[in-house]
Amino acid sequence: MSADSGLPDKLVDRFGRHVTYVRLSVTDRCDFRCVYCMSEDMTFLPRAQVLTLEEMATLGRAFTELGVTKLRITGGEPLVRNNVIWLFRELGRLPGLRELTLTTNGSQLERLAQPLRDAGVRRLNISLDSLDPERFRRITRVGDLHKVLRGIDAARDAGFERIKINTVAMRNRNDDEILDLVRYVLDRGMDISFIEEMPLGVIDDHDRAEVYMSSDEVADLIRARHELVETAEKTGGPSRYFRIPGSDTRVGFISPHSHNFCDSCNRVRVTTEGQLLLCLGQEHSMNLKQVLRSHPGDMDRLKRAIVAAMDIKPRGHDFNLDAKPVIFRHMSVTGG
Ligand code: GTP
Ligand code: 5AD
Ligand code: SF4
Repeated sequence: MSADSGLPDKLVDRFGRHVTYVRLSVTDRCDFRCVYCMSEDMTFLPRAQVLTLEEMATLGRAFTELGVTKLRITGGEPLVRNNVIWLFRELGRLPGLRELTLTTNGSQLERLAQPLRDAGVRRLNISLDSLDPERFRRITRVGDLHKVLRGIDAARDAGFERIKINTVAMRNRNDDEILDLVRYVLDRGMDISFIEEMPLGVIDDHDRAEVYMSSDEVADLIRARHELVETAEKTGGPSRYFRIPGSDTRVGFISPHSHNFCDSCNRVRVTTEGQLLLCLGQEHSMNLKQVLRSHPGDMDRLKRAIVAAMDIKPRGHDFNLDAKPVIFRHMSVTGG
């Protein structure tokens, strides 16, 4: 507890979980339309509803003063937001922050990898579901694989400490490329996480139950070629990591369906509109935009709202791929 304001210096929920990781979505827009994330034809938020970069910087300050040590910038595609590097520079200066990081689709990295590195970003997560240009286009509906691969090369040249590829594993869509993707990261000393798809938002032409692959199935495919040695390594996210002996590569599995990780959840999210979301798979939230806009400059009030929200963080999600999605919010509003 800090003496002057009566505010705590850390965020703890009703289940004793310590929240140290905030995922901040800086835009709901994206230059891709990945089949599991968006509909082909999306309506995006009007500008006035979206937090300004200054408001986001204020949020970053409030969270770090409340003991948050890791900030991840997400989207939509964060790098399509104008002037987003300014925000990285501001956040990169926050005392108390141990890690400033980013999840991106890679499309803008050729141009922005170096400025991001210069702003203090040390690790990057880049989404990549296929190494086949046509298939990549089918999954992202519009994306250009070569541009993304050039972006990944630019990130490697810019000297990030770790680059992790994120792959949503999908039966009959990219399951025959799992070994190729592992080879791709092995050759480049990068990490990779395979993700089980989550039912967020209704997407008409995509049947999630049909393409679902469990992490265990993916691990079995990899084991046909490589030894996977379980490690206790953690990056503060939900991945369970394995090492491939003789390499620098970690293979992670994010398994919201088959290995629920809610008990150790350490994170909350802020949507593009400034809703503090206490769980990716539930609707419990607190409107921080309202606090920011009705009491500009009142840091104490903002922090009190964040502290109060800890009391409504739910125990966990209950995703069910066979039922209609109960969460109507698309992943692009929260960035995962
Ligand atoms: P690291 O810091 O590298 O561990 O990152 P991360 O895995 O936390 O972040 P990333 O943005 O790479 O997210 C990868 C996947 O994990 C995305 O599909 C997210 O939706 C998912 N994910 C992250 N946190 C949660 C969570 O609390 N619940 C669920 N269900 N999925 C999550
Ligand atoms: N389920 C699982 N992962 C998803 N992503 C986007 N939508 C979904 C979903 N419905 C992934 C992206 C990116 C990360 C932020 O989330 O591929 O790697
Ligand atoms: Fe864009 Fe990422 Fe959603 Fe794909 S998954 S449409 S890259 S926000």
